[in-house]
Amino acid sequence: MPTVPTTSSTSTNSIFDELESQVRSYCRNWPAVFTTAQGSTLQAEDGRSYLDFFSGAGALNYGHNHPALLEALVDYLRSGGIVHSLDMHTTAKRDFLTAFRERILAPRNLDHKVMFPGPTGTNSVESALKLARKVTGRQHILSFTNAFHGMTLGSLSVTGNSMKRNGAGLPLTNSSKIPYDDYFSGAIEDFLWLERVLGDSGSGVDKPAAIIVESVQGEGGLSAARPEWLRALSELCRAHGILLIVDDVQAGCGRTGDFFSFEEAGIVPDIICLSKSLSGYGLPLALTLIRPELDQWEPGEHNGTFRGHNPAFVTGTVALERFWSDDAFSTRVKQRSAELHDGLAAIAAGYDGAVVKGRGLLTGIKFPDDSAATKVAAAAYRRGLLVETSGPEDEVLKTMPALTISPDELRSGIEIIAAATQEVLGVPSAPADTPGPQRTEPRGEDDDT
Ligand SMILES: Cc1ncc(COP(=O)(O)O)c(C=O)c1O
Repeated sequence: MPTVPTTSSTSTNSIFDELESQVRSYCRNWPAVFTTAQGSTLQAEDGRSYLDFFSGAGALNYGHNHPALLEALVDYLRSGGIVHSLDMHTTAKRDFLTAFRERILAPRNLDHKVMFPGPTGTNSVESALKLARKVTGRQHILSFTNAFHGMTLGSLSVTGNSMKRNGAGLPLTNSSKIPYDDYFSGAIEDFLWLERVLGDSGSGVDKPAAIIVESVQGEGGLSAARPEWLRALSELCRAHGILLIVDDVQAGCGRTGDFFSFEEAGIVPDIICLSKSLSGYGLPLALTLIRPELDQWEPGEHNGTFRGHNPAFVTGTVALERFWSDDAFSTRVKQRSAELHDGLAAIAAGYDGAVVKGRGLLTGIKFPDDSAATKVAAAAYRRGLLVETSGPEDEVLKTMPALTISPDELRSGIEIIAAATQEVLGVPSAPADTPGPQRTEPRGEDDDT
C-alpha cells in the first residue's frame, strides 16, 4: 500500500505545494495562510494583518463576515433551517425572492423572472447563452474584445483572453468578438462594422442570437463602457431583434454605486447575469434575470444539484434589506468611489502615461510599462495590502475594496499603493497629492453600514 503523508510528516504549509494542483493562482502572489477576517481586514497565521482591496474578486462587497449577515446565518443554521433543497420551495428562498423583488426589481421597474442556474457566475452565463439560443433559434453569439465571462466552455467561447481560451482544449465555436467601447481609441465610429453587416444580407455574417457585454470589464483591463455606448448597443440589439445579455457578475451588486452597473445608462437588458456578491457573505449564489416573454424553459430543461443555496438566501436577504432599502448606501459607495478615483488619479499623475481605468469601486491604474502593475501589487502585498491585477498582460493594477470600507481604510490602501508604486517606479515626477490626513490604522466598517 502506498504511504499517504500525514500532517505529522508534512510541514503545515508545504501541504499546499505537495497536494494542491498546479492550477492554484492567487496563493502564489499572496502566500500568507489566512485565518480570520473582519470587514476589510484579514489576519494571517503569522500574526500579520492585511487590508483588503480585492474583496474575494468581488464576492465580498459588504466586507468579510458582516456581523448582521453572520448573525442571521448562525441563527438559521442553529434553527435547523434547510441547507440544501435543489429548487424546492423553502422559507429562505421565499424571503430572498420577496426581498429581491421589493428592493431591487420593483424600484427599477424591472419585471424580469428569476432563474437560479447553479451557484457560480459561469453557471449564470451558460444559462443565459443557452436560453438566448433556444428562444431565438439562432446559434451565434457576439461578445467583446477583452471580455471575461467564466471558465466553462460556453462562457470561454465568449471570453477574450487567449490563455484562458487555450485551456479549453477544443475549438470555441459559434461566437465572434466585436470591439468594446474605445477599442480603436475613437478612430472608428461606434458599431460601424456591426450596423453595416447586420443590414447587409450579403455580408455573410450570421445574425446572432445575443450580444453579451460587461458594463465594466473586470478581468479584461477595467475598460468601462460609456453610458451612451451602452445605449447605442441596446438600441442596435432592439432594432435587429438580437437579445442583449448584460453580465453583471462582477460589476453588479453595487460595485459601481448602483445595484446594477447598467443603471447609469438607463438600459433594460433582456437577460442579466448576477453572482459573486449576491449572498453578501461569500457564499456561492447566482441568478439569471430573464424578461418574462423569454422565460421559455421547459421545467427541468436546465438543471443542477446546487441551485438555490439556502444559507446564501438567508445572508442575501439581509444584505438586500440592509443595504438596498433606500439610496443611502448607494450614495456612500459613490462617495467612496470618488475618493478612490481621486487618490489613484493623484498617483497616476506622477508617472508619465499612467492612466486611471474603471468605474465605481472597480477602479485601477494602467501603467505604460505592462510589467509594472504586477510589481506594484507585489510591493503592496509586502506592505500589507491585497490588490490584484487585470488585463490580458496583467497590465492594470485593479482595486476592488469592499463597498463598506471606511474612509480611513480607503485612504490607508491608497497610501500603500502610492508607496508601492514609488518603490517600483521611483519617485513621482510631480509629488502625488496624497489624499486626506495621515495614515491611520485600518478600522472596522462605518457604523452606519
Ligand atoms: C464578468 C464575469 N462573468 C463571469 C464570471 C465567472 O464567475 P465565476 O468565477 O463565479 O464562475 C466572472 C468571474 O470573475 C466575471 O468577472
